Amino acid sequence: MAAFLIQLLVFVSAASDDKGNPPDLLIADFEAPNYGAWEVTGTAFGPGPARGALAGQMAVGGFLGSALVNSFFGGDGGTGTLLSPPFTIERGRITFLIGGGKHAGETCIHLLVDGQPARTATGPNSEFLRPHSWNVADLRGKSARIQIVDRHQGGWGHINIDHIVQSDQAPRVEDDRAAALARAAASVKTAAVRAEQDRARPVYHFRAPGNWMNDPNGPIQHGGWYHVFYQHNPYGDAWGHMHWGHARSRDLVRWEHLPIALWPSLARSEEHCFSGCATLDGGGNPILFYTSIGHAEPECWAAVPEDADLLRWKKHPASPVLTAGSAPVKLHEWRDPFIFRAEGRTFMVHGGNLNASKGGQAVVSLYEAKSADLARWEFKSILFTHPDPQVKNIECPNFFPLGGKWVLITSPHRACDYFVGTFDAAAGKFHAEKNGFADRSTNYYAPNCFEDSTGRRILWGWIKDFPGGRGWNGCFTLPRILSIGPDGLLRQVPAPEVETLRGESTSMADLELAEGKPYLHPTGGETLEILAELDRGTASRVALRLRRSADGARAAEIAFDGETLDVAGVKVPLEPAESEKALKLRLFLDRSVLEVYAADGRECITRVLGGSPEDQGVELRASGGKAVLRRLDVWTLKPVW
Ligand code: FRU
Repeated sequence: MAAFLIQLLVFVSAASDDKGNPPDLLIADFEAPNYGAWEVTGTAFGPGPARGALAGQMAVGGFLGSALVNSFFGGDGGTGTLLSPPFTIERGRITFLIGGGKHAGETCIHLLVDGQPARTATGPNSEFLRPHSWNVADLRGKSARIQIVDRHQGGWGHINIDHIVQSDQAPRVEDDRAAALARAAASVKTAAVRAEQDRARPVYHFRAPGNWMNDPNGPIQHGGWYHVFYQHNPYGDAWGHMHWGHARSRDLVRWEHLPIALWPSLARSEEHCFSGCATLDGGGNPILFYTSIGHAEPECWAAVPEDADLLRWKKHPASPVLTAGSAPVKLHEWRDPFIFRAEGRTFMVHGGNLNASKGGQAVVSLYEAKSADLARWEFKSILFTHPDPQVKNIECPNFFPLGGKWVLITSPHRACDYFVGTFDAAAGKFHAEKNGFADRSTNYYAPNCFEDSTGRRILWGWIKDFPGGRGWNGCFTLPRILSIGPDGLLRQVPAPEVETLRGESTSMADLELAEGKPYLHPTGGETLEILAELDRGTASRVALRLRRSADGARAAEIAFDGETLDVAGVKVPLEPAESEKALKLRLFLDRSVLEVYAADGRECITRVLGGSPEDQGVELRASGGKAVLRRLDVWTLKPVW
């Protein structure tokens, strides 16, 4: 926690500045154990200033000293006010640090003159406090009071305030990258100790060293390494404070964590570094593009490395390189840049919608690079509108050529889908011909892909919905190699490098499964790869049960009845083709993570499993007749962490 108590920004309130301005006058620093002469109403502000985050709150940062006003006392349900004693306005500005909810008039701070708000400010929907300044030159000599208000219950129903001063200078803030990253790293290191102890945490899937992660961002191959980045909250195991975590690998399987690459530049009013991509500019230099949140509208910012190993990144001075407002149409929820090349030109797509999330106009917008350094972009067209009117918005679009076609993958706030079709670069239009699901499960989201030096299109998804409070949350799927099948639909198989994880194996063939006679595999385990070919024979249903408890009462079941594959509750219509006598399943179990690749990668299903660490059995069952297990290969897989 100590890390959070240090200010994120260097907030300078000097005795006097180089222009000879008079010294600042402190109104309140909230370092005392109680509110002193401030009048308190309600319960939200608790008995006195808080020493950082309160119970149930995400990490709070950016305040000065060791305490601040934090109206999360008892959670977001409480309300109340804090009123300062009267003071005389003697300087041209009143400056303070503000965080918490963005509910105008409800989670806010007022400057009261004659009992009425003469100035007001609302929180930024962030637990990081940032400087705010009111110009009060016209109010000099007046008597005033500060009122801090929490009248909102529910999400972001609190306000955080610290260090209120009268000053003749605007707050000077420096974007202290080194300190921000050191603080973030220290927080992750503390969480990692707790995360290590969790027996449900995957051991061969990619994950952050500790705390929260979501979308894969900017995969790229450079200088003999695969690099991946990811949405990362270094300050907690829930979503928030989006940074870009970073790691590299020689083989897509064994990873080395690197320093956090991108951090929100609070001094430039950046609150989050949202998802994006990596590419090489015209000179062959790596460059990242991401959505910068914290401004009036989302902005597309770039970042470039400061060293050949891509360990240290800085924000590109041309940022923002693109804004939502540059399009001739009003784009809502505009974010998540992804770059592709066609006909010697460089394009970028963004997700969003044209309908303020009301549904029916979820779109992918298209931009073209206008300079070789990729610092200038121009709106080209709406590339694609989602055909489903239920879909309200598209996140994380991926658009790329594959097997003579073009593929668009979308994350539409439900199971991710893909479209296969043609791209008309002159018109900037994608014509979809076929579609399917990138993964059938909502435990999977926001995939991101790239093409490696051998021409393989490699994709990772974010595996989500793990239980909270364990010092970690989230991981990637295995790297999936994409191709187009003979039916024009997507195929996904794990990269062959994953096979280097294989340890001991057992193989069997033509095992008969009769009703009431389940087969219990001799090894079992919780980190397994299984290759099964199930011929249903006369059985109405055949099931593979993983993470089976010793008494058989608990298990994650993968069952097939000839029409539907049911993967631990996710139902996938699946009719094996005539040529497929048996249903082929390839499964990867990694403690609480299960990935199923069915029918040679025609369908992928990712699940997050519950259960106790002791549940390690593998069982096969048939009902309503006799089934034959044509093949069953089981490998134990080795951990990489
Ligand atoms: C998808 C997403 C993106 C956004 C990011 C923020 O999961 O919502 O649209 O950039 O996560 O973490």
